[in-house]
Amino acid sequence: MKRILVVGAGGQIGTELVPFLQKHYGYDNIIAGDAKDESVARMAEQAISVKMDALDLESYGSLVRKYKVDTIFNLVALLSATGERFPEKAWNINMGALMNSLTLAKENGCALFTPSSIGAFGESTPHDMTPQDTVMRPNTIYGVCKVTGELLSDYYFHRYGVDTRSVRFPGIISNGCLPGGGTTDYAVEVFYEVLRKGRYTCPIPKDTYMDMLYMPDALDAVIQLMEADPAKLKHRNSFNITCMSFCPEQLFAKIREHLPEAVFDYAVDPVKAAIADSWPDRMDDSCARAEWGWNPQWDLDRMTKDMIEKVGRKV
Ligand code: SER
Repeated sequence: MKRILVVGAGGQIGTELVPFLQKHYGYDNIIAGDAKDESVARMAEQAISVKMDALDLESYGSLVRKYKVDTIFNLVALLSATGERFPEKAWNINMGALMNSLTLAKENGCALFTPSSIGAFGESTPHDMTPQDTVMRPNTIYGVCKVTGELLSDYYFHRYGVDTRSVRFPGIISNGCLPGGGTTDYAVEVFYEVLRKGRYTCPIPKDTYMDMLYMPDALDAVIQLMEADPAKLKHRNSFNITCMSFCPEQLFAKIREHLPEAVFDYAVDPVKAAIADSWPDRMDDSCARAEWGWNPQWDLDRMTKDMIEKVGRKV
């Protein structure tokens, strides 16, 4: 990777991925693109930032050529809960950005990373130690897009030799930029709310488990996978990765160890609850460990402590 375009750079992952890539590959080699004016303006303080529409093949293509891009990180996506409110829009945006990224990667010889998700699984998937290769019949539009995206990305690799790689991200916990419209968002929101107001009302049932990852591990995963020796990759799109699995009750108990006065209650959102229930409780990420050395560093204890410190400085 020498010249990287991050598409959808203003979101939860991009906000932290861009400075991380700058550290590894040099400031001038990272281009941060986003469709929203406010994101482009915010990013301009820290990166070469461009306004772009990933759904417009021609202007997206001119950027790839202008900056001589050799690697694309396509982070454009409407998340799971928002997707259920606007299914057609979710399909058009999620698949449109991916198709254009695949087309441009093929035409310009770029490597392409597009995150998949635990959302690619569904009710009929084994929930405990969800295998790398298993049943994938999601019942959200977000999941349908993710499975389609995995298949298309593998297709472009086998058919055209495009260097497509991906991980199935669990919920990502971070303190750079809030996620929006996801089912796992509660695990981020809770820190901001308890530190601001001393209380949090959770939309996910107290005993629903989901896989989670702390952002520093997510960033390492992206670089490790994109730098991995292709000869060692038996899979490409996409690898299970995880590092913690917990339910709201466990996370809140851990937060209370630091903030004993914090109050938690529940107002379960039926849409989010149904989505969360259909996703894995805990994935098996042994293929990622074996094929490219995935080795997460954070656990619930350290993540909670770090989030309280970092979010505490912001609110
Ligand atoms: N964080 C995403 C969501 O909740 C899952 O990939 O939609």
